[in-house]
Order: sequence, then C-alpha cells, then structure tokens
Amino acid sequence: MGETCLPQARRPCHFRRPAHVPTQARGIDISARRRKMVVRTQGPATMTKDEQPAVWQADMLSQYPMDSNAMMSDLDAERLGLLLTYVEETTLSEELAAIIGRIAERHPKHLRVKELFETVEAYRRIGQAIYEQWRAGRVEVVYDFACGHGLLGLLLAYRFGKLRVVCVDLERRPAFDHYLAVARGLGVPLENISYVEGNFTELELPPKSYVICIHACNEGTKDALEMAVAAAACYAAMPCCIRDGIYLRRINHVDDDVRYAAAVGVIAGQYGAYKITAIDGRITNRNLIILGGPVPDATDAG
Ligand SMILES: C[S@@+](CC[C@H](N)C(=O)[O-])C[C@H]1O[C@@H](n2cnc3c(N)ncnc32)[C@H](O)[C@@H]1O
Repeated sequence: MGETCLPQARRPCHFRRPAHVPTQARGIDISARRRKMVVRTQGPATMTKDEQPAVWQADMLSQYPMDSNAMMSDLDAERLGLLLTYVEETTLSEELAAIIGRIAERHPKHLRVKELFETVEAYRRIGQAIYEQWRAGRVEVVYDFACGHGLLGLLLAYRFGKLRVVCVDLERRPAFDHYLAVARGLGVPLENISYVEGNFTELELPPKSYVICIHACNEGTKDALEMAVAAAACYAAMPCCIRDGIYLRRINHVDDDVRYAAAVGVIAGQYGAYKITAIDGRITNRNLIILGGPVPDATDAG
C-alpha cells in the first residue's frame, strides 16, 4: 500500500505536517476548541483524542444556513469553530481543518457554507470509493470534471498523495488558486494537483483514470460518463439538473424528489453503475452519487 493513500482511518497527526506547520489557523484553535468542547460536554479531560467521542452530530447541520448566498464570513465564531471541528472529524485531519480555517479567515468571500458541506460530504463518499478502486490497482489519476472552485480535488490530492489529481473547468476560478496558496502557505505542497482550464470533453483519459463529475448540469454528466465508460475508467457522478429528453423522453406526474431519484436510477442503469449513495439531503436536494467501475471487493460503507 502506498504510504500516502490511506483508508479513511484516523490519520496520524504528524502524517504530512512539517514541524513548522501550525495545527491551527490563526485565531481559530481547532484542537483547543475541540478539547474544550469535549471536556465541557462529553467527558473527562484525561481522555486521549482518539478515545474522545465525536463532537459533531448530524442534527447540528440545522444550525447552518444552506442558501447559496451564505458565506463562511456570515458565521459567528461559535458556529465557525464547530464547522472546523466537523471538517476535522469528517476528514480525520487536523491539517485539512486548519487549511479550511485559514481559507475562511483569508478569503471569507470565496467559500460558501453550503459548498463546504457539500464538498466535505462528497469527499467522504467519493474518497472511500476511490480508495476501494485504488486498492484493487485501478486508479492512478483522478479527474474532477466541471470542478468549479476545485476544493474537492484539493481534499482528494491531500488524502491520495500518490495519485495525480486534475481539476478541469471551462473557467479557472480565483477560489482554486486562493485555496492552493493557503495550503502551500501552511506547508502542504500538494504537488500532485493541477488545473486545466478548458472543456473536459476535449481531454483524452489515460488508463487507470477515475472520473468525478459533481453537479455538472444536464449534458455535462452524460458527457463525463460517456467518456469514463469509453475509457473503462471508474467514476463518481452527482447529477443536478436532468432535463427531459437527455436519458428518457419524460418522467411524468411525480414530484421533484421522485423525479430526481428516478432519473438518477436511469443514469445508473444506463452507465452500469455498481452503487448509488448519497450525501445529506439537507445540504442539497441534488444529493445522489452514482459510482461506476468494476465492483470493488470491499465494503458497502461509502
Ligand atoms: C454547478 S457548477 C459545479 C461545480 C463543482 N463541481 C461543484 O460541485 O461545486 C458547474 C460547473 O461545470 C462547468 N462545466 C460545465 N460544462 C463543462 C465542460 N464541458 N468542461 C469543463 N467544465 C464544464 C462550469 O464551468 C461550472 O463551473
């Protein structure tokens, strides 16, 4: 097993952090905050970190605004701290939480609350799927097609240090460069990530590609899945808008949720998916993820 492709297990704190990298974003001491919260609410201060019960609970999501205008800068200190604890506990990395904390501090207008939850939850599910395929020897490069801000690629590049991660979008967003600069400023070089500004349909997928396509509207998902299947690549797609006529002539007489679920089922069938999974529907109602490729040995965890 490559030392920098880890299962989603508690990553040793020292794993990739050079000695000079702080474990906290300036002004936001995640580990201290977590200790404080755990001591106050969950148990004795003598517990080691790995023994501490999680601070983040799913019902806490209701404390956060999920409209697409709500920025990290709109959160009060309490909710921002809790959000960083959520990132740390979900990614099992203090370092990633520190990077997000620094982004929130330096670029508060470049990170939406909803985007962060969506990305971290997608990372959790898709990271597990990539890990299972990588372990079977099927992944060398991950493509995030229609990547937008590129934060998902950044999280994956961190976790899968031995894989190349290529983010692709028609337009290179300033947010991506801000995020990368923050990570690098904290001593996390992420040399395995790159960004291609252009149309992903013009790329040629090399062997052992893993294609991701999150919320690429309408034909975007179809184009990405056609490419993945043609290249025998594994894939993960979370469709958003699915216009009538792209896959089926019409889905009639059902409400929006049923229509979305039915359409995702059709896509999964059409492209030979082995699993449909989901992120929390309170974050987005376009929350289903289709996973494709050979059925991995493992788990039904993700
Ligand atoms: C709704 S955003 C989703 C961004 C990101 N995946 C996310 O989940 O936040 C859709 C993105 O798809 C990009 N896009 C659509 N078609 C594309 C294509 N053929 N090649 C590259 N990018 C494309 C757009 O530029 C836009 O940034």
